[in-house]
Amino acid sequence: MQKVHAYLKKEYPRFLEELKEYVSLASVSASGDKKQMQKCAEWLLAHCRKIGLSATLYPTAGNPVLVATTKGSAAKKLHYIVYGHYDVQPPEPLELWKTPPFTPTIRGGKIFARGSSDNKGQHFAHLKAVEAYIKTYTPLPCDISFVIEGEEEVGSSNLSFFLKKNKKMLAADGVVISDTNMPSLKTPAITYALRGIAAFEITLRGPDRDVHSGSYGGSIENPALALAHLLATLRDKKTGKILVSGFYDGVCALSAKERKAMHEDDAGDAERYRAFLKVPCLFGEKGFSHIEHTTIRPTIEINGLTSGYQGIGSKTIVPSLAHAKITMRLVPHQEPQKVIAAVRKHLTTHCPTTVTMEIKNGHGAEPYFFEPTSAAVSAAERAIKRVFGAQPRFIREGGSIPVVTDFKKILGVHSLLIGLALPDDNAHSPNEKFELANFKRGMALGAELWQELVL
Ligand code: BES
Ligand code: ZN
Repeated sequence: MQKVHAYLKKEYPRFLEELKEYVSLASVSASGDKKQMQKCAEWLLAHCRKIGLSATLYPTAGNPVLVATTKGSAAKKLHYIVYGHYDVQPPEPLELWKTPPFTPTIRGGKIFARGSSDNKGQHFAHLKAVEAYIKTYTPLPCDISFVIEGEEEVGSSNLSFFLKKNKKMLAADGVVISDTNMPSLKTPAITYALRGIAAFEITLRGPDRDVHSGSYGGSIENPALALAHLLATLRDKKTGKILVSGFYDGVCALSAKERKAMHEDDAGDAERYRAFLKVPCLFGEKGFSHIEHTTIRPTIEINGLTSGYQGIGSKTIVPSLAHAKITMRLVPHQEPQKVIAAVRKHLTTHCPTTVTMEIKNGHGAEPYFFEPTSAAVSAAERAIKRVFGAQPRFIREGGSIPVVTDFKKILGVHSLLIGLALPDDNAHSPNEKFELANFKRGMALGAELWQELVL
C-alpha cells in the first residue's frame, strides 16, 4: 500500500491538471447538447484506457454510459461497481460566477468549476486510486468496474434499461458512490438515506398570442395570475403543509431516537444555517427542524416559473401562457407515480375554466434507505477512519441519486454512499467548488477502501 500512496502523492500535480481538463468540458445534460456530452464521454474513455482500465462507451437512447473495468477473463475476485456521473447542471446565471464555469480556477485550496464537486472531482478521485494500484503493479484485492453515466442530473431515465440489458456483465457484490455530502471538512459521513423525486411541467394557456393589456386586460384570464393562484393552492402558506390529498400517504415516521441523533452535532444550529443561506428567516413544515425538512419530510418546489415579457423595461400585455417546472422530493415510502397522480388530480380540480391546462410528466426516482449495519458499511467505516482520522457520521440526505434503487432492484446490491462534497460546495449554484483536501483524501480513501472491502 505504501507504493500506492507514494504514487498518489508524487503524481498529484498531474492529477490536478487532468481534473482541470475534465471539468473544462461543458457536459450539461439538461440543455441536450449531444456533441458536448459525447466529447466529454470520449475524453473519459481515453483517460480510462490510458490508466490501464479496459473501457467501453455504450450508446443509449440518451447520452453514452462508460464502463471501465479492472476485470480480466479469469476474474474470480469480489466485484464492486463505482458509480459516478460526467454530466453537470446548467451553469446559469453566468454573471454570478467569479470565474467562468468551464475555466477551472484554483483559489485557496479549492478548484472552482461547474462539476468540480458534483460529480467529476469525486469519481475522478476513485479513478486515480485505481490508477495507482495499476501503475505500481499492486494487486487489487477485488475487481472494480466504473459505471459513469451522462444523465444523472436529468433523472437517469436510460440507465435502468442499460443495467437490465447488461445485468450479467455488471453482476456485483456492491456499489460505491461518492456523490453525497459530508457535514464538514472534519466530519466524514456515510449516507444511509436519500430522498426520491417526481418531476412535472405545467402550462396554462389563455389567448393564442400575447395581447394588449389595455385593450383586452380585464375581459380574459391572465394565465400568469391563474398559475400563481393555482400553485398557491398546493401548500399552506403558514404551516408549510402540502395540501394535495393523499400526498403524505405512506410517509413513515421516525423513532424519537433517530430524530434525536440527527441533531447531535452543530449541524442542528438553525441560526448558522439561516445565515449561510442569507434568508431573513427559515421556513418549513411545522413540528420539524430544518434538518428534518431537508431529509425526512417530502416537499414540493417550483424550480422555474416563466410567463410574459422577460426583457428590459415594461411591456403591457396579457401573456398567452404561463409555465412552471416543478419537482417534489419524496421520502420512504412514497411512490413517485402515486404522488404525481395525486398532484395531477389536485391541479385539475383547482384549475379555473378560463384557461387550458397541460401537464407533462418528467423523471421520477424512488426514495432510498438501507440499514447501515452490514459488513460493507463497517469496512467503509474503517477505511474512512484511517484516512480522515475521524469516525464517520451516519446521515440521511435530501438529494436524489436515481440509480441507487435500480442497483438494488436489478443487481440486488446496496450502494455505499461515501460523499466527498461539502454543504458549501455550491452544487447546482454559481461558483461550484471542490476542496482539494477532499480530492486528496478521496484518492487515499479509494485506495484504502478496496483493502477493507474484501469481505
Ligand atoms: N449529488 C447529487 C445528489 C445529492 C445531493 C445527494 C445532495 C445528497 C445530497 C446529484 O448529482 C443530484 O443533484 N441529483 C439530482 C437528481 C435528480 C435530477 C433526479 C437531484 O437530487 O436533484
Ligand atoms: Zn447534482
